[in-house]
Amino acid sequence: MHSQAAAQSLGSMRPSLTPPHDIRLEPVLPRVAGRTKMPGTMTANPQNFNAANLGDIAKHASLVSVLTDLARPDDKKAQLSMGIYFETHAFRPHCPLTEDRIEAWRRFAAPLAGTVAGARYLEMERIAVDEGRYLCSTSLAGLLLDTFDGWRARALLCERDEHCRDELARAFPAATLLEDCDRLASALDGMDAGSEPPGWVVGLVDPFVWSEAVSRSVEIWLKVLNRHWGMKAPVAVLCFGYGMGRGDWPSINAGDLRQVGTHETRIEARGLGSKVYGLSLMANRKARGIVRAGLEQLGWVFG
Ligand SMILES: C[S@@+](CC[C@H](N)C(=O)[O-])C[C@H]1O[C@@H](n2cnc3c(N)ncnc32)[C@H](O)[C@@H]1O
Repeated sequence: MHSQAAAQSLGSMRPSLTPPHDIRLEPVLPRVAGRTKMPGTMTANPQNFNAANLGDIAKHASLVSVLTDLARPDDKKAQLSMGIYFETHAFRPHCPLTEDRIEAWRRFAAPLAGTVAGARYLEMERIAVDEGRYLCSTSLAGLLLDTFDGWRARALLCERDEHCRDELARAFPAATLLEDCDRLASALDGMDAGSEPPGWVVGLVDPFVWSEAVSRSVEIWLKVLNRHWGMKAPVAVLCFGYGMGRGDWPSINAGDLRQVGTHETRIEARGLGSKVYGLSLMANRKARGIVRAGLEQLGWVFG
């Protein structure tokens, strides 16, 4: 069944992403000299502790949905178009999960099974989780885009942490790795030189904290995208923000590229109070209609 038709038929089955109140959100991890350390890795990147939380799941399910509809459409002709995929804050290809986290992931993600878009994400992640691993955004995208082999997508992955970058380089040898997202605008500029326009452009902006500085950077990236491909290809950029409610996103317009939808996940957990995780979709006219049905299934609201 075409994914959009399937999405429409399941449109009313919006998942409730409210977890049970008794769930333990933080994993029990060994502490080394006062620092929490993830088993099986030398990396002390704080994202190791956010992996598999509710916001992470909402983000990854949305990313899989956008990539499936824009970069791997059911339309055979469109499937042949090579695209550009980028992440401004890439992290690692995958990370280990403690038993607590595996249990949390299963319970948080279970409601997604009732939707086409969510089921696709679950199918990909479940195999890894069953082995005690957790696929992060780059691996989910990499699996969908044939590990960025230059046939289906050219990928730009920005990551400041050297250990994470080494892991990314091993997992995705064909991707271009940048040490800092400050370098993204000029790298995108370079991709335009003398080449065919891409069939699509998808990006993920995923900093730890959404700040004024991040907003300014996003505006620069969107302007570059709009200048090169805004009128030529569908362009969609997913932005994730911890603590960002629907009304908290700054208004950023870059030509035809602007915010077209938002997602908000709020959890109330005993002892932890209320947490909000938000997502915002920046897209041009060519991308909006294509990704809309899948994201609506996941609880997104479009303006
Ligand atoms: C929230 S995590 C990304 C999670 C990942 N996108 C996922 O969904 O699995 C943020 C990452 O950004 C990296 N980072 C922080 N500042 C950065 C910068 N200026 N440029 C590139 N990466 C940065 C951190 O090292 C961390 O790995």
